[in-house]
Amino acid sequence: MSEKRVPQHLIRLNDLPPQQVDDLLELSSRLKRKGTRAELAGKTVGLLFFRGSLRTRTSFEAAMVQLGGNTINLTAATDFWDLEVREGAVMDGKAPEHIKDAAAVLSSYVNALAIRPKPQGRSWEQDRKESEILSWAHYARVPVINMESALWHPLQALADLLTLRETLGDVRGKRLSVVWTHSPTPATPSVVHSLVHGAVRAGMDVRVAHPQGYELDGQIVEEVGALAKASGGRFETGLAMNDVVRGAHVVYARSWESLEDYGNPTLAASRRSRQHGWTVDERLMALGSDARLMHAMPVRRNLEVTDEVLDGPRSLIVQQAENRLHSQKALLTHMLRA
Ligand code: CP
Repeated sequence: MSEKRVPQHLIRLNDLPPQQVDDLLELSSRLKRKGTRAELAGKTVGLLFFRGSLRTRTSFEAAMVQLGGNTINLTAATDFWDLEVREGAVMDGKAPEHIKDAAAVLSSYVNALAIRPKPQGRSWEQDRKESEILSWAHYARVPVINMESALWHPLQALADLLTLRETLGDVRGKRLSVVWTHSPTPATPSVVHSLVHGAVRAGMDVRVAHPQGYELDGQIVEEVGALAKASGGRFETGLAMNDVVRGAHVVYARSWESLEDYGNPTLAASRRSRQHGWTVDERLMALGSDARLMHAMPVRRNLEVTDEVLDGPRSLIVQQAENRLHSQKALLTHMLRA
C-alpha cells in the first residue's frame, strides 16, 4: 500500500491549521450525535505502543472498528527488538534493524502508523528532540500519528478542546487553569504542552500553576507566548495555585516531572517530597467561577484530585475520556478517507 505523495503526519497539534482543528471538532460533535458510517472500510492502521496505554489504545481501536476499518496492534513494548535511528550507523550494537527499514516495510502493509514512543528518560535535551517519532515520520510512506511523545500529545489535545467546547460553548476569553499535581509516577509535560498550545490558539486565557522547578519546556513556553499575541488569547505560567484557580472556568489537573531533574530519579524524588498541598480539592475548586475539573487520566485519587471532586458534578473526566473516541474518529476520517 505504498503511497507516492508525501504523507501528512500528525506529530503535534500545529500540524493542523486552526481552521482544520475547528472543522475536526465540528465533525467530532457530529459523529458523537449522529453515529458513524463505515467510511474507512478496507483501511488498516498499525499501532505501535512502546509503552502502555488504556485510553489511547482502546479508543483508537474502537474508532477504527466503528469506521469500518481495522487495526493491527504490534505490541511493540514486548515484541519489538531495538531499532537503530542513526543514519549511516554501522549496526554492530544491540539493534538488529534500522527504523528506516521497519518504517518502509510497515508502510507497505498499512494505511497509517500510530506510534507511542518511549522516551529514554536520561536527558531532557535528548528526549525533547523526539528522534524516534520524527524518524518514523521521516521514513514512513504513510501518515504517522503521534499517540504521545515526550513533548506532545495531540490526540489528547483534540479531545480536550472538544470537551472545552461542549462545556463552555465559545471558548474565546474563557479561563483555563492548569494545576500541577502530586504523583510518584509523573509523566513528561506532553499533555500540558499540547493543551496550552491548542487552548491559547483558540483564544483562551490560560494560566499554569506549578512549584518551582516544574517549569514547562522553555521553547514551548516561548512559542505559546507568541501564539497568545497572535490569537488574542493569554498565557501565564509559574503562578501560585490559588491565584490561577480564582475565576477559572475549567481547572485542569496534571502531574508532570521536573525537567531540571530529568534523568536523575534521586533528585526528582527528593524535589517531589518537598511539594505539599498540590491536590485539587473542593476548597480549591470553589475559588473558580463555577469551575469544572478536567484530567487526562490515569488519575491518582486523593493525591492528585480528591474523590469528592472526581465523583462530583464538577468532574468532566469521563466525558473527556469518551471524547478521545469521537475526536479520533474525526481525525482518522480526515486523514484516511480516500
Ligand atoms: N490520556 C491518555 O493518553 O491515557 P492512556 O495513557 O491510558 O492512553
